[in-house]
Amino acid sequence: MSKLYKAYLSSYRMDTPDWDCYLKYAGEIYNTPQLQKLSQFEQHFKINRLQHIRSVAYLSFLISRKLKLDYVSTARAATMHDLFYYDWREDDLSHKLHGYRHPKTALKNAFYLCGTLNKKEVDIIKKHMWPLTVIPPKYLESIVVTSMDKYCATIEMIYSASPKYREKFHRLTGIGGEE
Ligand SMILES: [Fe+2]
Ligand SMILES: [Fe+2]
Repeated sequence: MSKLYKAYLSSYRMDTPDWDCYLKYAGEIYNTPQLQKLSQFEQHFKINRLQHIRSVAYLSFLISRKLKLDYVSTARAATMHDLFYYDWREDDLSHKLHGYRHPKTALKNAFYLCGTLNKKEVDIIKKHMWPLTVIPPKYLESIVVTSMDKYCATIEMIYSASPKYREKFHRLTGIGGEE
């Protein structure tokens, strides 16, 4: 099992010293009601948006720290990268082009939550759907987050589509398995 996948699994248990370290930098965002209520929304079918954010933010924080990048901005911005409050699968005209539009919605909500954001935090949130949103990321931190977003989304889609994988996941984490 790769180190990255092990870290991904621990983002469900939240029981590592590294998780406490992540919270030291991003806890004031992660623990707000605005973030916690994202658990009510599906992100990738069986995985809710708060869990998705937790995985993306935790892995991005670990990688940025390892690469000696700005891991504080990474942790904070990755925690807000999908800060929006609607089910993007609903057949609603306002949700059309969700993939292009939601980074801007998340950015607006992030400003609303924090008051100010630094340039890196803005770029991380705005560009996390790249290359779908055409303008490329300006910072390595943004590349870390967009890569981890895709990594986590892929696992979440496999998890949602495959009962066999869910069974394995349950064995590894003790999470899920109640179907
Ligand atoms: Fe997103
Ligand atoms: Fe995401």
